[in-house]
Amino acid sequence: KLPYIEPYKIKMVEAINQSTIAQRKVWMKKAKYNLFKLSSDQVIIDLLTDSGTGAMSDKQWAEIMLGDESYAGSKSFEKLETTVKKITGFEYFIPTHQGRAAENVLFSALVKEGNLIPGNSHFDTTKGHIEFRKAHAIDCTIDAAFDTTIEHPFKGNIDLQKLEHVFQSNEINTIPFVLITITCNSAGGQPVSMQNIHDVSVLCKQYNVPLYFDSARFAENAYFIKTREKGYENISIKDIVKELFSFGDGMTMSAKKDGIVNMGGFIALKSQKVYKACVTYNIMYEGFVTYGGMSGRDMGALAEGLKESTEFTYLESRINQVRYLGKRLVEFGVPVQQPFGGHAIYLDANKFVANIAQEEYRAQSLAIELYITAGIRSVEIGTILADRDPITRDNRYPKLELVRLAIPRRTYTLSHIEYIAIAIKNVFETRNEAKRGYDITWEAPIMRHFTVELEKL
Ligand code: F0G
Repeated sequence: KLPYIEPYKIKMVEAINQSTIAQRKVWMKKAKYNLFKLSSDQVIIDLLTDSGTGAMSDKQWAEIMLGDESYAGSKSFEKLETTVKKITGFEYFIPTHQGRAAENVLFSALVKEGNLIPGNSHFDTTKGHIEFRKAHAIDCTIDAAFDTTIEHPFKGNIDLQKLEHVFQSNEINTIPFVLITITCNSAGGQPVSMQNIHDVSVLCKQYNVPLYFDSARFAENAYFIKTREKGYENISIKDIVKELFSFGDGMTMSAKKDGIVNMGGFIALKSQKVYKACVTYNIMYEGFVTYGGMSGRDMGALAEGLKESTEFTYLESRINQVRYLGKRLVEFGVPVQQPFGGHAIYLDANKFVANIAQEEYRAQSLAIELYITAGIRSVEIGTILADRDPITRDNRYPKLELVRLAIPRRTYTLSHIEYIAIAIKNVFETRNEAKRGYDITWEAPIMRHFTVELEKL
């Protein structure tokens, strides 16, 4: 058997700025120990996010040249609308400038004060848009998701009993919809099975509650269904995607992930009534309905990106690269979430740096250490991200304290991945030297992690 290779070759390169530990120590302090505040040339390998950081293909760049920038009814819009309808099966389509904008528009139409939105773990902007409307996001993810050592093929699944309990113990008309996030980013990039999506949709129908998807990584989720779920081995990714969306009433999309573009998003819907309600908000917040905050050229590139991201060969290479990093870390004994996520490997900071108190932000401490040691920028998925309870204002301490190493699509080579693995091994070997973490000196009232300022204890 021949070894596996990436199904693409490189046509354009971008230089990486090298730096020293001494330089990075100064930069990190200046950035108030917030990795979001670093400038990109202070970073060697950027794993902050897989959002908008992927490499476009030559065909996508060709679409940039073909962009039709007409205000209304552009050819690029039509191209994207046709592609989205074909891939998702939804009848109505609204472009937005990114995923959270799609949430803002859809939730403006559907979410009222006091409402409950159950689902698997909501992403932070999603939760932000829910809580900003004085509504509540209820996490019904299966318990197995919160133990990083349990091998479960679909840790993003919703616990049907938890969901039914929410339905039964509340006025059903206070639940505007259920939201399934595929893959479930906040639970570690874990997929949801087709069976679970089906079962949730049956329960939703029984209680007359609509079902929506937060679909940022829907193609990666489809890859896991194909490779892990019985009966889907011989079904194409595109057919799996179609089937999966057929169980829902609509979706929001951050196209910066599985659209493989730098910016973009959309809403796709079954109901004309919801579509019409969204259109008003879209025009108000995003732009006219045939561009919604995107340039014509960006819509063209997104249409092409959606076709490419739903090809099996692309997905296999993508997921293989993430898996390779995970396997190397396991070989070194580093505690990582298992099974590996689709877009990222998550370091288990509760095990990695148990010597630092949770109150001193142990996952953030680990992310800072990794940056200083090797110039790798990761992101904390722990207490800082979990933010404060909107009512009591107390810190919410999540069960998992993770450091996410998000892998941009088609951007880094296998030797970059090897560099990351060795760097983490080095940090792991000296993990017991750190005793103290960090303290917050300033934070925003909502979504604090983007701008939080810290000091070293
Ligand atoms: N939903 C999920 C599951 C996401 O992961 C994100 C973004 C969004 C919605 C919001 O989309 O950024 O286009 O407005 N996640 C990025 C990340 C930021 O790093 O995981 P957006």
